[in-house]
Amino acid sequence: MSDLLAELEQFESEAIAAFKNARDARELEAARIEFLGAQRGRLKELQGRMGPELRAADKETKARLGSKFNAVKADVTAALEQRKRELDRPAAVAGGLDVTLPGTCPELGRRHPLAQTILEFKDIMGRFGFTVADGPEVEDEYHNFEALNIPHDHPARDPLANFYLATAQAADGSGARLLRSQTSTVQIRVMEKTQPPVRIISVGRVYRPDAIDATHSCMFHQMEGLMVGESVTMAELKTVLRLFARAYLGHDVHIRFRPSFFPFTEPSVEVDMSWNEPGKPWLEIGGAGMVDPHVLSAVGYDPDRVSGFAFGLGVERFSMRRYGIPDIRLFTTNDLRFLRQF
Ligand code: DAH
Repeated sequence: MSDLLAELEQFESEAIAAFKNARDARELEAARIEFLGAQRGRLKELQGRMGPELRAADKETKARLGSKFNAVKADVTAALEQRKRELDRPAAVAGGLDVTLPGTCPELGRRHPLAQTILEFKDIMGRFGFTVADGPEVEDEYHNFEALNIPHDHPARDPLANFYLATAQAADGSGARLLRSQTSTVQIRVMEKTQPPVRIISVGRVYRPDAIDATHSCMFHQMEGLMVGESVTMAELKTVLRLFARAYLGHDVHIRFRPSFFPFTEPSVEVDMSWNEPGKPWLEIGGAGMVDPHVLSAVGYDPDRVSGFAFGLGVERFSMRRYGIPDIRLFTTNDLRFLRQF
């Protein structure tokens, strides 16, 4: 009995090894006939010799031998089937590369909806002849306020209304730096370096310690525009803004100017948008105006010779309207279910 058990085990390991080592279908078939052949296979032969012993054995031995036989037969048959499947894959024979295996598909990323919006803004304004300028997000007070005609005691300079950096500054407060509260800073930086005519936009982040809700965030994006030349007028400002809004949001957009005040423009307007939707209020999208002569002088331009318009629009507003996004916080919470929709 123990001889037979040992023989079964030996048979099992030899058969499995033979199947594994078969290099092609022909060798595998030869091995199958040798070990599992129905007429003269080794398992058949073992089975034949087990017959008399089983008949003489007690119940417990019968059971042990019988189940061992079945287990060995199942394992060996499985090894045969597996090798068959391996050899059936054509490329496995050719040398390791199996072109029939399912590939690992790289997951494609996509641009953030705001990044898409910004690219489109640049594209549209590019068609109107505006080039793209950039400026730093950490600004000095001169570019964020002074050069924009915002005096020292102006409420916009309140430390509580801005993100000032805790860097070294002189006793009189000079040298203070802050996260820019508006992209109008870039107007100054561009005019300091270039002579008119100027036609630029700048798109980027601005920071304000506002309470966060569905339409306000302490960080958002603005698109600043500036056009300076020999006879730039407010009519051109309105045309550019209307053409821009229509290019991005469709032909049914209307633009409205409301009188307003900004220290760096004169006259100044608040810009609103609407669609032909009865009962829907106008949506405020930013500020604009004719560049104040003080600002032109501060950068060394001659206000008697050149004039210009400037505007600052909220980028999120446009993106939210275009895509039907109900809450500004969705842009920054990094929820992939949201981001994958764009
Ligand atoms: N900087 C202003 C703001 O953040 C928006 C603005 C108003 C920009 C008038 C301009 C402008 O360029 O001319 O509220």
